[in-house]
Amino acid sequence: MEKLLANQVALITGASSGIGYGVAKALADAGAAVVLNYHSHSGPDEKLADEIEQAGGSAVAIQADVSDPAQVANLFDASRARFGGVDIVVANAGLQKDSPFADMTLHDWQLVLSTNLTGQFLTCQAAVKEFRRRGPTSVSKALGKIICMSSVHEVIPWAGHVNYAASKGGIQMFMKSLAQEVAPERIRVNSIAPGAIRTPINRDAWDSQAALDKLLRLIPYGRIGAVEDIGKAAVWLASDESDYVVGTTLFVDGGMTLYPGFSDNG
Ligand code: BGC
Repeated sequence: MEKLLANQVALITGASSGIGYGVAKALADAGAAVVLNYHSHSGPDEKLADEIEQAGGSAVAIQADVSDPAQVANLFDASRARFGGVDIVVANAGLQKDSPFADMTLHDWQLVLSTNLTGQFLTCQAAVKEFRRRGPTSVSKALGKIICMSSVHEVIPWAGHVNYAASKGGIQMFMKSLAQEVAPERIRVNSIAPGAIRTPINRDAWDSQAALDKLLRLIPYGRIGAVEDIGKAAVWLASDESDYVVGTTLFVDGGMTLYPGFSDNG
């Protein structure tokens, strides 16, 4: 049986670790050729690209800082040179720089906003231009698909993380406004909002039993997420199986957004 994303090209920003790495692997497993963007650590992406190629797929690792317009332009130019275009773009690159509000430096505020929000703006803008340049194809009903990586913190306030929560709250309206604007061209824009997924970004929340027990009180489904949970959602959102899904945030969070604190209170 032909794979769901056969003959399509997917570009994933921030693919060197965590959710980006897992999503890239899942899209490649579903048959897409993948462009793996990394910022500073080439090792994991080079290794994943080798593994994918050895398994008969196609992959290339490309360095770019997504908060820099020239580097984002290079990233898309390099993808076009290698694969002729792109069908799926996952604007994933993101980071946390946590601190109590009064201690938060302007540098850490700007760093988080410029990667998590401006980075998605630049990535999605380049994606829209690239979809238009390339035009319709026979590999998908849509002209192109964009997945913005959001977070449960696009709706759950998060003390001690105002920069991160502001960036993800921004992604919510960014994604919906963009989706509304480009849907008439059959460009589908959606978000995935992961809950607590076991990755380096939240190691403190799961690497001791005490921390994990505390975290699990926030997750009705009773387990921490795995990057594969997000990978499967991304494959579906990138495929024609979700062709009528436009401007939606898909929460993949084990019920974290169900206000579990109210299950025996309120
Ligand atoms: C954050 C993680 C956190 C999760 C749930 C994510 O967006 O990056 O650090 O564990 O939300 O709170």
